[in-house]
Amino acid sequence: MKYFIKTFGCQMNVADSDFAAGCLESCGYYLADAAQEADVVVVNTCTVRQHAEDRALSYIGTLKNFKKNNPAARIYLMGCVASRLGESLKKRFPHLDGVVPAQEIERFADVVSSPGMTEKKSPAADRNNRAGVPSENCLSVRSSGASEFVTISRGCSNFCSYCIVPYVRGPARHRASAEILDEISSLASKGIGRITLLGQNVNSYSSDGVGFAALINMAASVSGVESIGFLTSHPKDMSDEIIIAAAREPKVRKIFHLPVQSGSDRILALMNRGYTRDGYLSLVAKIRKECPAAAITTDIIVGSPTETESDFMDTFSLAEAARLDGFFAFKYSPREGTASGRLADDVSQSAKEERLARILELQRSLIRSRGGRKIKS
Ligand code: 5AD
Ligand code: SF4
Repeated sequence: MKYFIKTFGCQMNVADSDFAAGCLESCGYYLADAAQEADVVVVNTCTVRQHAEDRALSYIGTLKNFKKNNPAARIYLMGCVASRLGESLKKRFPHLDGVVPAQEIERFADVVSSPGMTEKKSPAADRNNRAGVPSENCLSVRSSGASEFVTISRGCSNFCSYCIVPYVRGPARHRASAEILDEISSLASKGIGRITLLGQNVNSYSSDGVGFAALINMAASVSGVESIGFLTSHPKDMSDEIIIAAAREPKVRKIFHLPVQSGSDRILALMNRGYTRDGYLSLVAKIRKECPAAAITTDIIVGSPTETESDFMDTFSLAEAARLDGFFAFKYSPREGTASGRLADDVSQSAKEERLARILELQRSLIRSRGGRKIKS
């Protein structure tokens, strides 16, 4: 029996897909080269922006004929679209055999082993669901050679106004530090020494008296670990202690992904981000002082509700002033149920596109002025 997993979205989804692959392999399934050759097809979906959701749903649509020609094959939808739209997806796509919401990934094995039982939670899943972290019975399949993601927390409790993640992934749950270190140690003993600590906001990690700065040092001292990276940081929780730990620990890769989202104080307040433009700039200065070799990358949203040309110019000038090393820039996409989703999406599509093009052109010119240096993660 063979399986195939198609993953959309962020690194958290990649890690969740590795977990799902581990569940399937522990049930005796082998990886197929393509969906068409698989007995079980899993689609791991993203809904952070409408475009991401549309792509995932359009892929599900393409599997209709596959199911018609292979009625015994089973197709499952997991991830953030599953959380947002739930069982209604089975009405829209009758060829789906099950739906596993992102915040219930620990039920993956139950759902896949008993088709149609998506609403039933097994006692085993409850027992193993320490802080909502998947069952250890399903060890993740490690797909990326000598490099691996280690999930340190799931979900998010920040409720940035535009963001659907807290609704579809649930509140922040932090894994026990001993469990994280065991996982790192077991990876390192298999020759996987390049570790990336993963969470929606890694800087707010806190479990059994261990904060993120301490976790960095503990992870780096695990025997066999070659390097430590971390994703994603939140400016409001990036403390001096974390900056110093990351700067001084030789095994930490000096890349800080520090999403700013906007350079306008008015928009940052509307976004509920918990810092100001000056606060972000002084954080960047602090990182550069402690760690001159640091590469700092960011996420930017253009065209949030009420964003004026002058707000956008604040973002533009911040990106320029901070000499950021790379941006991921997105057009604002209203998400139902979020605080921003209740506001009018009042920046025109053409203004969003034009601002996106300008910020990406700035990125290209900053890269040119550095002599084309690109960030290696
Ligand atoms: N519209 C556009 N971009 C968004 N992001 C999150 N929510 C939205 C949204 N509704 C972006 C943010 C975040 C990145 C992962 O996706 O920049 O940091
Ligand atoms: Fe979304 Fe904000 Fe949480 Fe990031 S920190 S996942 S942007 S709510």
